[in-house]
Amino acid sequence: MRNLLSITDLSMEEIKELLKEAEYFSKGGIWIPKQQTFAVNMFYEPSTRTKSSFDVAEKKLGIEVIPFDVNFSSVSKGESLYDTVKLFEVIGANITVIRHPKDRYYDSLIGKINIPIINGGDGCGQHPTQSLLDLFTIQQEFGGFKDLQVAIIGDISHSRVARSNKDALSKLGANVVFSGPEEWFDESFLNTGDYVNIDRAVEESDVVMLLRIQNERHHHTSSMSAEEYHLKYGLTLERESRMKRNSIIMHPAPVNRNVEIADELVEAKRSRIFKQMENGVFVRMAVLKQILECGGN
Ligand code: CP
Repeated sequence: MRNLLSITDLSMEEIKELLKEAEYFSKGGIWIPKQQTFAVNMFYEPSTRTKSSFDVAEKKLGIEVIPFDVNFSSVSKGESLYDTVKLFEVIGANITVIRHPKDRYYDSLIGKINIPIINGGDGCGQHPTQSLLDLFTIQQEFGGFKDLQVAIIGDISHSRVARSNKDALSKLGANVVFSGPEEWFDESFLNTGDYVNIDRAVEESDVVMLLRIQNERHHHTSSMSAEEYHLKYGLTLERESRMKRNSIIMHPAPVNRNVEIADELVEAKRSRIFKQMENGVFVRMAVLKQILECGGN
């Protein structure tokens, strides 16, 4: 694997191999690169989980992390993404993780940058390592994906998590359904699953995955209040009481408590939200290992 830009670049076998490696790391497995290795995590959009868990994953693998804060860098003087990544390449970075608000920002780098790129999220495009950690969490719970029903609920059209997960879950044999405000549904998702009403989605699914409202990507402010959204499209305590007995709650986070999910449910027995965050480190260790092991080829 040269880069990890989109979950759609991975075959079913490659996904399964990465999940196997993640499991190895989750059980205390050790791997370190043969030579001194530097990584730079370049986040042009805010992040807590993805950036911190890449930092931890890199340090656990013995990789030196080059500090980079976009707000205190020459990006504020107008330096382009290409020039910034090229700089890190020439001063010795061996791998980079990039999050950027522009969909497919990496098109301007591929073929010109000689170090591997891991996509930490591009606009409304893809978030492949989030998808892998979601898959790992589901596999831990159910042992596989075949015939599981996964409901992805909320701001579908602006969500790179929804876009990555629908492709990966369908490839692995799960049935995906979508729910949430119809105005935030994207018809291009229909090739992987149906749009259903929230009550049906919650009652029939094995995995109920809520999404944050991506206000930063909306061109118009919604007239709906947080309370109204919660009652119409959120996982309320009442809706949770109608979930299947062994079904689980997931959310990529950050969570808006009492909007897409009731405050009390974030750490409920069936919630795997903090487990997802924990698993993020193991999955990112697996991705870094695979890319570095094959020399980025
Ligand atoms: N889930 C996720 O990508 O969280 P961050 O934005 O905090 O990285």
